[in-house]
Amino acid sequence: MNSLQFSLFDSPLDLALNFWEKLLSNSDTVIDATLGHGFDALKVLPLIPEGFLYGFDVQKEAIESTCLKLNPYYKNFELFHQSHETFPNKIKDQSVKLIIYNLGYLPKGNKNLTTLSSSTLLSLDEAIKKLLPSGVISIMCYPGHNEGAIEKEAVFNWARTLHKNEYLVTFHELINRDKAPALCLVQKKQKENSYA
Ligand SMILES: C[S@@+](CC[C@H](N)C(=O)[O-])C[C@H]1O[C@@H](n2cnc3c(N)ncnc32)[C@H](O)[C@@H]1O
Repeated sequence: MNSLQFSLFDSPLDLALNFWEKLLSNSDTVIDATLGHGFDALKVLPLIPEGFLYGFDVQKEAIESTCLKLNPYYKNFELFHQSHETFPNKIKDQSVKLIIYNLGYLPKGNKNLTTLSSSTLLSLDEAIKKLLPSGVISIMCYPGHNEGAIEKEAVFNWARTLHKNEYLVTFHELINRDKAPALCLVQKKQKENSYA
C-alpha cells in the first residue's frame, strides 16, 4: 500500500477490528455483549470459522436485525434476547477469547434505550471471569451523549483499577477531537508479571 494512502484507522470499528484480527484464531469463542444491528458480529464470524459467537441484546429489534444478517452465511452462533448483566452457565469461566461491548443506543433506534453505566459495570465484572488467559475485553465508548459520557468515565475508572500483574489495560482516543469515541482494551495476562 502507498504510505501516503495509509490511514491509522477510518472508523472506531476499524480501530477495534485491527486488534480483533490479530487476536482471534480459527476455533475461538467470542461474546458480543451488545449486538445492535450485528455489524460487529458480522466482522468477527469470518475470523472464527470453527469457533462460536454468543450474542446479547435487550432489544428484540436488534436480535432480529442481527439474525437477518448472519443467518444466510453462518451457523456457529447463538443469540440471547437478554441483558448482558449475566451470561448463561453454558459459557464456562475462562473459555472466551474476545468479549465485545459497543456501548450506546441502537443506531436509528430509540435513543433512550442506551446501555447504562450501572449494568455495564456489572456485566464487565462477569465478563472478566469468562476470559481465557490472553483473552481480551474490547469496550467502545461513545461520550457524545449524556449517558455515554458518564459510561466512558465509569469504564475508565473500572479498567484502571484492574491489577497490573493480571491485566494489560489500554485506552485509545482521538485527543484532538471533542467527545470522540474511545476504545478500552483489557487483556488477561498469560502469566502474572509478564508484559502481556
Ligand atoms: C451501539 S449499539 C451496538 C452496535 C452493534 N454492536 C452493531 O454492530 O451494530 C448498543 C446496543 O446495546 C444494547 N443494549 C443496551 N443495554 C443492554 C444490556 N443491558 N444488555 C445487552 N444489550 C444492551 C442496545 O439495545 C443496542 O442495540
